[in-house]
Amino acid sequence: MTSLPKMIVDCDPGHDDAIALVVAAHFADLVGVTTVAGNAPITATTRNARIVLDMIGSSVPLHQGAQRPLVAPPRHAAYVHGESGLDGADLPEPSRPADSQNAVDFIVETCRATEGIWLVPTGPLTNIALALRAAPDLADRIAGISLMGGGSFGNRSAAAEFNIWADPEAASIVFDYGKRLIMSGLDVTHRLQATPERIAKVRALPGRLAAVLADLFDFFSQVYVSRHDNMRGGAVHDPCAVLALTHPQLFTCKDHHVVVETHGELTMGMTLIDQRGLVERETPNCTVQWDVDAEAAFNVIVAAIAAFSK
Ligand code: BDR
Ligand code: CA
Repeated sequence: MTSLPKMIVDCDPGHDDAIALVVAAHFADLVGVTTVAGNAPITATTRNARIVLDMIGSSVPLHQGAQRPLVAPPRHAAYVHGESGLDGADLPEPSRPADSQNAVDFIVETCRATEGIWLVPTGPLTNIALALRAAPDLADRIAGISLMGGGSFGNRSAAAEFNIWADPEAASIVFDYGKRLIMSGLDVTHRLQATPERIAKVRALPGRLAAVLADLFDFFSQVYVSRHDNMRGGAVHDPCAVLALTHPQLFTCKDHHVVVETHGELTMGMTLIDQRGLVERETPNCTVQWDVDAEAAFNVIVAAIAAFSK
């Protein structure tokens, strides 16, 4: 039997981050969770992570991280996730505090103690960049980085996806780190939509967790459907970065050279994917997900929720 991939999920819950945590807790060896400011301020994203871990009965280490980007001003996404970062459901009060406010130390110490851990960032890349800068040896200790962010088009601007746009300097450090890198960008995540039929599968599961997650899916999907011309549900972004490791067969991928724009007046935070078929194209540094078997991927998500819903 092959062992589950070990991972630290670095997140800013966030509706889709919450789902990513549930998938990681069931299908991966989740060695810790770290939080970052992004969809909401750091106290809110940490509180939300505490609630999600409570709801699935997980006692994995939870460490609070960066409260603002490296250079860019702090900017959040209440227009997608609500002021709390997790609007739309009646959530329990969290029982557990975070274990520390030093997510970067936790990442460094854990990856030094155990070789072969995947870092799975599903928010702005501030903590990951700080860890790579604080401990350059990490690049050779980890299995790789599987992140949700970027794409060949944007959502926060025409060019930039939110996680990269929120902290482009941090993202640039991560894309330049030189080792295994997998990118779940908008090209693939917009193909995995929480349609009404798929949300109904979650709502049909027993127990409070499934009811809460179905409410969160409903809120998130209503936002997406109302804000886009042609979507039938919320884009289930963040779980793709986990599924890339637990269920890689779901995805169609190709290796490319990808850089982050940190100067452009109109393109700040863009991930420039070299798709040229020319011999002089740059050497690939990133595996880019382009397509997903959406029905099968959502069924894996339902299975993860079901595992905590008995
Ligand atoms: C990303 O931004 C956030 O709103 C989501 O949680 C996801 O990580 C999508 O652009
Ligand atoms: Ca996120």
